[in-house]
Amino acid sequence: MPSPVESIKERLHIADIIGSYIKLEKAGSNLKAKCPFHNERTPSFFVSPARGSYYCFGCGAKGDMFSFVQAFEGTDFVGALRTLAHRAGIELVREDPRERGERERMFLLLETATLFFERQLKTHPSALEYLHGRGLSLDSITSWRVGFAPDAWDTFVTFALREGFTKDELEKAGLVKTEGARTYDRFRSRIMFPIFDSTGRAIAFSGRILGKEGDSIPKYLNSPETPVFSKSAILYGFDRAKLEIRRKDFAMLVEGQMDLLMCHQAGFKNTVASSGTAFTEGQITLLKRLTKRLLMVYDADKAGVQASLRSASLALSAGMEVKIVALPALTDPAELIATDLPRFKESLASSAHIIDFYLAVMLKEDLDERKLARAIRDRLLPYVAALESSIERDHFISRIANRTGIREQAIREDLQKSKNPARSTTPAEIPKETALNPRRHQAERLLLGLLFWQEHTSPPALDVVWLKKEIERIVPTSRVKKLFAEAEGLQDELTYQAESYYRGAGSLTEVARDLLSTLEEDTLKEELSVSLKELLNAEQTKDQGSKEIVLKQYHTLTTRLNAVKRGRQDFNPSAEFPDGALRG
Ligand code: UTP
Ligand code: MN
Repeated sequence: MPSPVESIKERLHIADIIGSYIKLEKAGSNLKAKCPFHNERTPSFFVSPARGSYYCFGCGAKGDMFSFVQAFEGTDFVGALRTLAHRAGIELVREDPRERGERERMFLLLETATLFFERQLKTHPSALEYLHGRGLSLDSITSWRVGFAPDAWDTFVTFALREGFTKDELEKAGLVKTEGARTYDRFRSRIMFPIFDSTGRAIAFSGRILGKEGDSIPKYLNSPETPVFSKSAILYGFDRAKLEIRRKDFAMLVEGQMDLLMCHQAGFKNTVASSGTAFTEGQITLLKRLTKRLLMVYDADKAGVQASLRSASLALSAGMEVKIVALPALTDPAELIATDLPRFKESLASSAHIIDFYLAVMLKEDLDERKLARAIRDRLLPYVAALESSIERDHFISRIANRTGIREQAIREDLQKSKNPARSTTPAEIPKETALNPRRHQAERLLLGLLFWQEHTSPPALDVVWLKKEIERIVPTSRVKKLFAEAEGLQDELTYQAESYYRGAGSLTEVARDLLSTLEEDTLKEELSVSLKELLNAEQTKDQGSKEIVLKQYHTLTTRLNAVKRGRQDFNPSAEFPDGALRG
């Protein structure tokens, strides 16, 4: 029986998969694009339909359709498997949940909770009425899987324990709290919005109080951070909005759950929500792979303006083009859509570039001439400096001059001195050496998975002691401990991944050999680039002694790398990509 990965690869083409996320151009028998994983102006990202693989000459990202979906959607292997199985029309065989790993159990628990809250909403008319009263249709409520947590301490706990989950699991998933011997529901009398990951799995909840919030009762209560939920890396609605964001080539950003649901209901399906937090780099990274253009539609109140400016400056310095919509005072997107949709659309149409918006806010502050000049220099010019295009910069300089009466020349001089936030903060680009970075260390993940899987198989289909030694030989000593420590927490996932790839795949020893040599090549290339930097340094300091040591090291690495490459000519992805693409 073929493994699920094999069946999926048989049915789907890598070019279609990657092409549904980014725009690919023909390049001989391959396809190319601007790399979605790092900033670049000319394409160095290649897809080889023949091999079913991709490779970026700029940042070294490489892999197959699984690792692409994983990296692009910021999900784990199981998430990518789900997405691709769905597209291939393959049903993944569900195994007994009791035998699945901890993470899988947690997903199952969160799905169970979602279903539970959905059912509760049906039997609590007051909650449903409230939602209708806010303008939500039954369709929206159902499709976003909105639910209700009753006003009691133990309805959910009791239900979940009866379903076979343990208190410990409920606690870890953030669904209950424990005080002494007492375990009680975290969410009580709340409208429940499940938060989904980019593949549509429920991973957390945001609960809005039904009734009045109070000093000790916050309006919204969110799940705590859990092994499957990291607030700063999630955008509410992203799973549903991503294709539309790409199609329209811009994303709408709102603050709240209600705002998001109402936007989608009104047909603005490229909307995502930051859920009350300021925008984070992780969220920007998610969006930036789909579009560079961001339209912020925040509350019109002062807190809303402050929040949008913080978020906007982060997005700007990450190279996004940011516009802001000024809504009429005392309203938010959800309310305006419910009460006056035409007015909401008008507001969208009159969106302003962040700099114009900010300028207008400042002019409204009624500052005297000197204070205004200083405010412009300190608070506005950094945004101008952050603009990538000099034409745009010129445009805004004359605009500011016109509106404020400050001379253009003076603005230019200040701009020279003004710090450029784009240069002072490094935009979320290629993540630095993370041991389990899914795209750069696919081989590492598969090898560890293979090891874990076979360690728990008796008799093992390959020599696990040999495999472990080989991994330890290849991975630099400075990192090998950390690698195993980090993999520890991912045992289930890595095992499952390796098993899905290689179940029934002939000789596992052969598989391991191939992976080891890929890993060795990757690792040597990394060490080589470090060594090259050291060499250049040594050259500058003109320290003959250290230069010789570094040079020797460099030669050893080159020799080793060449040997590895010779040993696997036909496995080298760079061998089949056009030479012209090799830099320059
Ligand atoms: P708002 O206070 O603007 O709430 O917070 P809202 O969206 O208008 O709420 P509704 O419309 O009355 O239901 C915006 C977002 O900030 C987060 C929530 O995600 C909320 O949607 N928030 C707000 C919290 O996380 N905790 C809070 O106590 C309040
Ligand atoms: Mn609001």
